[in-house]
Amino acid sequence: MYICLCNALTDRDVRATCESGRSVSMVYRSLGCEPQCGKCVPFVRQMLREQEGANAEIGGDD
Ligand code: FES
Repeated sequence: MYICLCNALTDRDVRATCESGRSVSMVYRSLGCEPQCGKCVPFVRQMLREQEGANAEIGGDD
């Protein structure tokens, strides 16, 4: 599913770059682009939060 129409980024593209400690701007930069209209920024931020939560759960088992 496209989440950024300006840069033709899909949720898969973004998820692949969502690593712990990354900022929204780092995600765009690693994909070789930058926000244009900004409508997708909340979605990218949400995906980063979800990734942080998933990492916390994985790390919490030990
Ligand atoms: S939809 Fe991503 S910058 Fe416009």
